[in-house]
Amino acid sequence: MIQIRTADLNDIPEITSVFRDTIINISTKHYSEKQTTAWASGADKIKDWEKRISKLYFIVAEIDKIIVGFAYLKNGNYLEGLFVHKDYQRQGVGSKLLRIMESQVMMNDFEVFKSDVSKTALPFFDNKYFNVIKIQKKSVKGVMLENYLVEKQM
Ligand SMILES: CC(C)(COP(=O)(O)OP(=O)(O)OC[C@H]1O[C@@H](n2cnc3c(N)ncnc32)[C@H](O)[C@@H]1OP(=O)(O)O)[C@@H](O)C(=O)NCCC(=O)NCCS
Repeated sequence: MIQIRTADLNDIPEITSVFRDTIINISTKHYSEKQTTAWASGADKIKDWEKRISKLYFIVAEIDKIIVGFAYLKNGNYLEGLFVHKDYQRQGVGSKLLRIMESQVMMNDFEVFKSDVSKTALPFFDNKYFNVIKIQKKSVKGVMLENYLVEKQM
């Protein structure tokens, strides 16, 4: 049973573990070790996580009180992060988090839902009817990472 609730600051250790472990274990299929190490180091920027949790719409998914995924929304219609625990992939956690984010975007009165997604996540967003608008390169700690700007009409 997947439970959804808003995140609070006490969740930071679990959220950052999910973030780091998912990148290191799942995204290494699509990115080099140098790229995933740079990307995963974002887990250590605790001040940034505190800001995200206190200022953005930030939700977590739990199974048996374990955080198995999280997602957060910026500017009302931009999905800035969606991560599912490495041991709970392909169990519907990402779909449930995305459904709730979509409802939030509609409640915020936006007609377009946007995100920048990794190569790893692209098949998931394709399955959810997002279109690729462009392929782009982002610098993380001086390392270039390719990702995709995707959009969906609500
Ligand atoms: C992308 C991600 C969030 C998907 O979460 P998830 O809980 O595994 O997704 P779901 O179980 O809800 O998948 C729903 C459907 O999407 C599609 N899908 C999901 N992952 C897929 C994959 N790796 N390859 C192909 N299709 C995939 C499938 O159609 C799947 O349905 P099915 O399992 O019945 O075939 C998760 O894989 C993840 O955390 N990836 C790494 C982190 C990341 O890159 N996040 C995005 C950065 S913004």
